[in-house]
Amino acid sequence: MSDSCPSVYVVDDDVSVRESVECLIRSAGLGVETFASPQEFLNRCRSKPPSCLVLDVKLPGLNGLDVQQVLAKTGLYIPIIFVTGHGDIPTSVRAIKSGAAEFFTKPLDAEALLVAIRQAIEHHSGLPNGQKKRSSNGSNQLIGSSPAFKAVLKQVAMVAPTDSTVLILGETGTGKELVARAIHARSHRFSRPMVTVNCAAIQPSLIASELFGHERGSFTGALHQRLGRFELAEGGTIFLDEIGDLPSDTQIALLRVLQEREFERVGGNQSIRIDVRVIAATNRDLNAAVAAADFRSDLFYRLNVFPIHLPPLRERSPDIPLLIEHFLRAHASKVGGRIRSMDEKTLEMLRTYSWPGNIRELQNVIERWAILSDSEEISIDESLFPREEPRTVAAYGEQAPDGTIDLRAHIEAVERNLIGRAMTEVGGNQSEAARRLGLSRGSLLERLKKYRPRTA
Ligand SMILES: Nc1ncnc2c1ncn2[C@@H]1O[C@H](COP(=O)(O)OP(=O)(O)OP(=O)(O)O)[C@@H](O)[C@H]1O
Ligand SMILES: [Mg+2]
Repeated sequence: MSDSCPSVYVVDDDVSVRESVECLIRSAGLGVETFASPQEFLNRCRSKPPSCLVLDVKLPGLNGLDVQQVLAKTGLYIPIIFVTGHGDIPTSVRAIKSGAAEFFTKPLDAEALLVAIRQAIEHHSGLPNGQKKRSSNGSNQLIGSSPAFKAVLKQVAMVAPTDSTVLILGETGTGKELVARAIHARSHRFSRPMVTVNCAAIQPSLIASELFGHERGSFTGALHQRLGRFELAEGGTIFLDEIGDLPSDTQIALLRVLQEREFERVGGNQSIRIDVRVIAATNRDLNAAVAAADFRSDLFYRLNVFPIHLPPLRERSPDIPLLIEHFLRAHASKVGGRIRSMDEKTLEMLRTYSWPGNIRELQNVIERWAILSDSEEISIDESLFPREEPRTVAAYGEQAPDGTIDLRAHIEAVERNLIGRAMTEVGGNQSEAARRLGLSRGSLLERLKKYRPRTA
């Protein structure tokens, strides 16, 4: 079974159930592994989480609901299909409320179970309409165990089962979209769509039509009736990404939907009621935008029901080794499983760098090096690592206390910084770095020699 084939894990202490469910899943062409105890399953899950879990409720040691809690706490969002021989209604209600995909009682209806497994895998791996549902590294796992990130995971676990509006705030690349997906995946809306709207990417004149749809003929070019994103998200979640960039006309229309859960299509006069949970995210400082009258305060208060602040990576440095391991594992499988570790010095550099692009930047760095490294251990040349934040040329023009500016030192600092960044960006490829910097390869080599080791 290839790594990309979805795999289903079955946890049941009854060997006959394990065998029959295993046989059923295998016959459908899916990968399957079975476990007699929750502990065995949790151990396996840490190294290779499944695409779907069929979980018995009554188990030795931890019961099925406890296992669900443990997974939620560790940030593993796996669709769970519970099975029980006891037809226990209160338990099934609790399970469904806390995000179970389905609940079956024994004896199992094989066909229905298979349909539920397929649906769960489909929702886990991507929406049918091709909307991106997984993160770009192919996993929806939230990695991190620093106190700051644990607080975020706790908030996610608390708010997910409710219908409250969530506002996710944080710098670029801190995982806002991943957290939104985690909340949706752990909500009772899990099996319904999560529809994403990138408020910054849609033309301002089309945002109302995108969100609320339009009637045929409502404007030039509206040849057909079109459903908006709110209607498409019916029963599920709408994720309003980059909400801080919403034009002011649309802000008022959005306010009304949030207040009344009702809207009209553009050019229509019929009110449409919807049942949609709203999650919004932005990397802008919305308080400042409100103060500058760029963002309506009434909309801000509607959105700011349950704010989650994602800390920048520089404030969660204990998570850096975990994230590196996670990304190395993800990329190692793509590049033939070569890369396994990173030397201490390199790790220390990565730990102390300020990561302005946060986790996305770290992910990109690891991906480049994983592809380029030809040994089992990654090692990075210190002189080429971008230890400083990208700074503008003006920032280097600071005066010394005596009022003088050492022009040569500043120019060298800028040059060293830009060369370091360019080399990192191209993964050490000197010809490509020279091309990007507009230098001949010879002059780049000269400068590399000059700046290694660091002189400033
Ligand atoms: N805690 C995490 N564990 C594992 N991967 C993560 C984590 N946080 C973010 N990532 C990964 O980092 C990348 C960026 O995350 P995401 O797109 O969610 O960030 P964002 O805050 O929405 O960024 P932007 O503001 O630029 O849109 C994604 O590939 C995501 O999978
Ligand atoms: Mg985003």
